[in-house]
Amino acid sequence: MRQAGRIVARVLEALRERAHAGITTAELDALAAKIIKQENAIPSFKGYRGYPAAICSSVNEEIVHGIPGPRRLQEGDIVSIDVGAIYKGYHGDAAITVGIGQISEEAQRLIEATAGALAEGIAQARPGNRIGDISHAIQEYAESRGFAVVREYMGHGIGRQMHEPLQVPNFGAAGHGPPLKPGLTFALEPMLNVGSWRTQVLADGWTVVTEDRKLSAHFEHTVAVTENGPEILTAL
Ligand code: MF3
Ligand code: CO
Repeated sequence: MRQAGRIVARVLEALRERAHAGITTAELDALAAKIIKQENAIPSFKGYRGYPAAICSSVNEEIVHGIPGPRRLQEGDIVSIDVGAIYKGYHGDAAITVGIGQISEEAQRLIEATAGALAEGIAQARPGNRIGDISHAIQEYAESRGFAVVREYMGHGIGRQMHEPLQVPNFGAAGHGPPLKPGLTFALEPMLNVGSWRTQVLADGWTVVTEDRKLSAHFEHTVAVTENGPEILTAL
């Protein structure tokens, strides 16, 4: 899983470098597919329930599961890039949100709060805590900065499959839920909205957008609980 995670991290770094005004989301997808192949890994999203691409690219009011296509990123956009890969039977799954050129102050604050909320959640991923401690830390951090947390989509167990039964909501009560034990691996993925937490799915059957069409950001890491605390597997 460490190796799978590192491959995902490399792909995201390459995509971050290429995410500039004028590039299409399909070009980002093609680059991701190429790197994953070079690394002898398999894109886990492609074919998952019929999903057509190696990455999800979700622009502005799109929250998650945006399908790459001919859309060109523009100055001022924010784009969430989500990547999954399988290496030697194990999965890695991670996402970042990137600003294109000069972005609004609000967009910048949203991105920082979402990355910060993920970091707060990860910090709780240690033995002796429970899932609810992670959920609560994410929600507290997000809402204290004035943003809403998406409720219908959440973190998940991951390992030999991309989605394993454990669910990790991005909101909830501390001290509740399954206990965290060494060896547990999950993907944490807070999605924060500028306006309402409510979502809609577009007619393509995949793209999740904010109901009020205000901005949303998304960060994700695959994390292991160890005796010594959290280990981020999708880091370089
Ligand atoms: N990171 C997303 C998730 O954890 C990836 C799923 S996209 C899909 O749910 F296309 F593969 F469904
Ligand atoms: Co995920």
